[in-house]
Amino acid sequence: MGEDELEKKLNKIFFGKEEQREKDYDILKTVEEVFDTFTLRSLFDLSRKVGLRKISGVISAGKEARVYRGVDNSGRELAIKIYLTFSAEFKKGIYKYIEGDVRFERVKITGTRRLMSIWARKEYSNLKKMFSAGVRVPEPLAQKDNIVVMEFIGKNGVRAPLLKEIGDALRNPAEIYSEIQENIRKMVCSARLVHADLSEYNIMVFDDSPVIIDVSQSVLLSHPNAEEFLRKDVSNIDRFFNRTYGIEVHGDTLLEELMQCLRKSEGSIP
Ligand SMILES: Nc1ncnc2c1ncn2[C@@H]1O[C@H](COP(=O)(O)OP(=O)(O)OP(=O)(O)O)[C@@H](O)[C@H]1O
Ligand SMILES: [Mg+2]
Repeated sequence: MGEDELEKKLNKIFFGKEEQREKDYDILKTVEEVFDTFTLRSLFDLSRKVGLRKISGVISAGKEARVYRGVDNSGRELAIKIYLTFSAEFKKGIYKYIEGDVRFERVKITGTRRLMSIWARKEYSNLKKMFSAGVRVPEPLAQKDNIVVMEFIGKNGVRAPLLKEIGDALRNPAEIYSEIQENIRKMVCSARLVHADLSEYNIMVFDDSPVIIDVSQSVLLSHPNAEEFLRKDVSNIDRFFNRTYGIEVHGDTLLEELMQCLRKSEGSIP
């Protein structure tokens, strides 16, 4: 089934007539494996909660998650991130971000679906902490099971470009660089989190400012690998700006400063 057709069907299910709904559920189940009944129900509940009026197309279809653009009753654009599959390899890889995290220690992880829900909850919880700390991330709006609804970064149906996609065409690289550093500072010292996958692939540029995305793997400062992840994040950003724009980078100074915040967390349970 093509994307257009899927979109039509989804809109019919969520916003069509009551009696039509169950029938569409079945049609969709047999022709489109992307959404199982579980995901459809969660999406349906969430759409009530956030006043979703329309789902209008896929923004991104990655290996584990799909991101859709939606519009709410007031015309505001939304981004809906849905975790759909975790490969065995991916599952193995993400345990290191969940183990060592006091928030999820007591959760026994059994099936893939459970793991996807934990992953989505982790992303939502990280977004909330970062957003409240003033880190420029999409505003988190709602989460249920394997779905996260957040602010759409972009305008009039067009998402903002990633730093990677802009390449060497940034108008204000030095300012963007220091804004990213400021965001890292707030993330570590106020939100008390390390992104743990920060690079030009997970930063969008909107209204001439960086917006940090994709925070499901972000960890608490008390995580045993927090420092290692932070060093990698900071050096990824330095590498990109140094190679692409030849600007003078000072990640080392930032790291030194951040170590104070990192050390404060030692021995303390947040
Ligand atoms: N809030 C948002 N507003 C607009 N576009 C978004 C938003 N969040 C994500 N996107 C788009 O969707 C893409 C994938 O999102 P994200 O990086 O969070 O997921 P991912 O699981 O890492 O997927 P991938 O493997 O494709 O990177 C982003 O590169 C971006 O283009
Ligand atoms: Mg990503």
